[in-house]
Amino acid sequence: MSPTILNVVSGKGGTGKTLLACVLADMLGNAADSRTVVVDLDFFVRGLTSLLYFHQDEKLEITGGDVVTVAHFFAKKQAVPISNLAVLKYRSFDVVPAVDRIDERLNFDDIGPNTQEEARRILSSLIRSLGNQYSYIILDSRAGYDELVSAAHELSRASICVEEQDPISRITSENLISQLSADSRVPVFRLVNKVRGIRSVTDFRSGSQSVTDLGLIPFDMDILSSFGMHSFWDTVAGSLYRWALAKSWNVLSAKLQLKTELQMPRVSPVVDERAESILGFLGTKERVLFAYGALLGVLGIGYGFVGREVLLALREDPTRAASIAIGIAGITLATFASFKKR
Ligand SMILES: Nc1ncnc2c1ncn2[C@@H]1O[C@H](COP(=O)(O)OP(=O)(O)OP(=O)(O)O)[C@@H](O)[C@H]1O
Ligand SMILES: [Mg+2]
Repeated sequence: MSPTILNVVSGKGGTGKTLLACVLADMLGNAADSRTVVVDLDFFVRGLTSLLYFHQDEKLEITGGDVVTVAHFFAKKQAVPISNLAVLKYRSFDVVPAVDRIDERLNFDDIGPNTQEEARRILSSLIRSLGNQYSYIILDSRAGYDELVSAAHELSRASICVEEQDPISRITSENLISQLSADSRVPVFRLVNKVRGIRSVTDFRSGSQSVTDLGLIPFDMDILSSFGMHSFWDTVAGSLYRWALAKSWNVLSAKLQLKTELQMPRVSPVVDERAESILGFLGTKERVLFAYGALLGVLGIGYGFVGREVLLALREDPTRAASIAIGIAGITLATFASFKKR
């Protein structure tokens, strides 16, 4: 079965393509029968390869060994598939890095394809070098438009244009979409990222959308500040961001009749993968029962141990009772903060 190729684009930079490509690839990689690879086509900005750099304990050397990265594949104007394309494992998916070293300097004249035809030829041989082992190939394209973005679009099943809510972002994405649509009949879908004011799953309107809209992805401050850090994937797990992305994927999957539907992930109030894995076996109803059960347990056992006299004494001494209540609140906060930190 040949892979489904999806191209992630944007009119202006920094809208969230790379983050989205990674989180989506991780969800797909964890789903049954959907091996996924992400190709860093943005060899100058190389956001995806930077994520690998942080993952590999900040070693400047990304690949090592006799393998060919995207930039070198293009520099050699490689027109036939090769067996030593650099493919690195990252969590549940694979990555084709843009460069060998994260600080590698490149000469645009050597690398950037001169014509759309040349870009299409080289990119298609790079894709063929990946073989048929993948269900999904996600292309992390550069922001804006050039020969390579256009070639990536033409070779894909669809392009996903990530935009933000501001008017400049909207105009740049409309311009890009009209250019890509003139190049080829491959569909372009729009995804609005970093949407403010969405705090829970109930904030997602189920109103009518245009046929090319995939939905809204909320702005998440914790994701922004942890991108690239060790805590990043813990932050993503259980986030509304991941939930919204799974929802948008399922919209895309239905429109394109793809074979993978993602399970809607649980949105965790604890926002910690380890805590979530402990609580994971409990549904919302069970969590509420668990909380009441724990409260009754503490009160019952507490009363059993300290006895009626102590409780009555507390009634006589409200300052002491308030102090105990503050103490319990403090311990609860500290426990919560330490869970979040981990
Ligand atoms: N929904 C979101 N909420 C909060 N921060 C986000 C969100 N999406 C992306 N970001 C942050 O925005 C910044 C840019 O994201 P990213 O690098 O994925 O964008 P990009 O479109 O790939 O950029 P470039 O055009 O430079 O390749 C990152 O710091 C990322 O963590
Ligand atoms: Mg990027």
